[in-house]
Amino acid sequence: MCGIVGFIGNKNAKDIILNGLTRLEYRGYDSAGLSLFNNRYQIFDVYKDEGRVQKLIDSTKNAPFSNIGIGHTRWATHGRVNQENSHPHYSQTRRFIIVHNGVIENYQQLKDQYLSKSKFYSETDTEVIAQLIETFSQTLHVENAITTTLKLLHGSYALLVLDANDPEKIYAAKYKSPLVIGKSSEGITIASDLMALIGYSNTYHPLEDKTFVVARKDDVRVFNLDHLPIDVEFKPLELTDTDTTKGEFAHYMMKEIHEQPSVIRRIITNYFVPNQTFINPEIIQSIQGSDRVYILAAGTSMHAGLVGKQLLEKLAFIPVEVHIASEFAYQKPLLSKNPFFILITQSGETADLRACVVSINEMKYKSLTITNVPTSTLAREATYSLELFAGPEIAVASTKAYVAQVSVLAILAYELSSKSFDIKKELSIAALSIEHFLENQAMLYLTRNYLTKRNCFFIGRGLDYLVGLEAALKLKEISYIQTEGFAAGELKHGTIALIEDGTPVIALISDPTINGNTRSNLKEVQARGANTFRIVMESCKQEGDQVILEDVHPLLTPLVMVVPTQLIAYYAALERSYDIDKPRNLAKSVTVE
Ligand code: M6R
Repeated sequence: MCGIVGFIGNKNAKDIILNGLTRLEYRGYDSAGLSLFNNRYQIFDVYKDEGRVQKLIDSTKNAPFSNIGIGHTRWATHGRVNQENSHPHYSQTRRFIIVHNGVIENYQQLKDQYLSKSKFYSETDTEVIAQLIETFSQTLHVENAITTTLKLLHGSYALLVLDANDPEKIYAAKYKSPLVIGKSSEGITIASDLMALIGYSNTYHPLEDKTFVVARKDDVRVFNLDHLPIDVEFKPLELTDTDTTKGEFAHYMMKEIHEQPSVIRRIITNYFVPNQTFINPEIIQSIQGSDRVYILAAGTSMHAGLVGKQLLEKLAFIPVEVHIASEFAYQKPLLSKNPFFILITQSGETADLRACVVSINEMKYKSLTITNVPTSTLAREATYSLELFAGPEIAVASTKAYVAQVSVLAILAYELSSKSFDIKKELSIAALSIEHFLENQAMLYLTRNYLTKRNCFFIGRGLDYLVGLEAALKLKEISYIQTEGFAAGELKHGTIALIEDGTPVIALISDPTINGNTRSNLKEVQARGANTFRIVMESCKQEGDQVILEDVHPLLTPLVMVVPTQLIAYYAALERSYDIDKPRNLAKSVTVE
């Protein structure tokens, strides 16, 4: 959601910003804009409109060279999707130009209190920031005008500010929404995501909340909101272009599906030094010292959490509750006496989870974030964090992050258990099983012949039911087919009423002990006209089953069973010519509640 890129240095800022915005497209957006200094007229030109970054690339083709600029992709929250509401926004005299990611909750009150005489150009909450800075700059030094403004804002912001009276600086500030600074001999890049720094920065620093930055082309200073300098550490940027390109694949989603075996192997390598896991012993002690674990997450990560509950309960005998983050944040269940919280999040920036961690910290409970982005807000705000090592996940539809989340949860549960089997070996077997399936898959056939209706059902029992929930989310989010995942035994209690001639029902069967039960439920829907399809593990196979996967450890079946369902979603979207990597209405990183 909303991407920000700013550059000041020795190069053409336009190229760096447009490349950066293109790399951030995966976050989801509906408009794009850019501001560059016009040396001839000594003003900042603003180019912006609804639509894709490509439109912005075309409209700025002849923009004059500028070594300073800021750009933005907007995912609308306040105000319609149109040119006026696109960023950058400017103050009344156009002296201050800003881009903003986040939501200013008290913008109306600020408008009424300080800006009744200002002329507004848009319907956004963001514009208030530019107008306040201009108003305060009439009596204060610019930097004080910005920090005074920041102190008035309620909500969240990642912000870049330009001052037409001093085009040698970019000001930046952060609260709740992510912002990273990258440095190289060629200049300073500031962006909402490391991805935008690739190729332009050798080192980076993820900004802390309530920091204010003054960037010149060869110097960055970071302050707190009281304008006191803060020492910050820049780390080497290890991401490369191969992490962010599609390679031989037509879509990121397909690339990421194929990366899953290597993600599992990377997790094994990173989590096991010869005979020991790499998990901080304090995490283990904290969980062992708790009386209940609460897993909080959203979307696919929540589905991984449901599998995590089974792993922790079955391997470590620890009671676990799983909650949807947006519900938990404002509707807390009765907590146990000594809870421990696990937050699962690919991006580490999901606002619904952020609301949870804030209240967990207020209650002074311990928490662990399991995330793909170790520098993310949620990794920093929880007591502990564990990394997924999945590499950048760019397709909006999450695939390899799920597999990584389940793998890391399995290792965590194993560490808490009596360690009665070799988890490294079992995870390696799962990686191999996925690899063999991917070498032989023929899923296109399935989608052409089966998914011909407006709706579809995934059914399963036990862990397969949990995979069915994830499978349904994947199919609906990119193919727009109305899909639900159901506990196979529950169908007859209501949902079976929806089955009619040709309704696709996909059964997931990985557990020999309940194989017969799920097959009976399949018979029930077949008798009512359903068009059925079976994805099964070798030990459950029967004549006519369409997809047969090599057996893995009974608790690790979700790692493998999920893969054919990801491909079903992919091919269903491909068949319909939809934008697979950027499905409608969705953003990769959901930074608003
Ligand atoms: O970054 P997070 O894991 O916290 O994101 C949570 C959900 O927004 C995410 O899993 C979403 O459901 C995916 N688009 C599903 O494919």
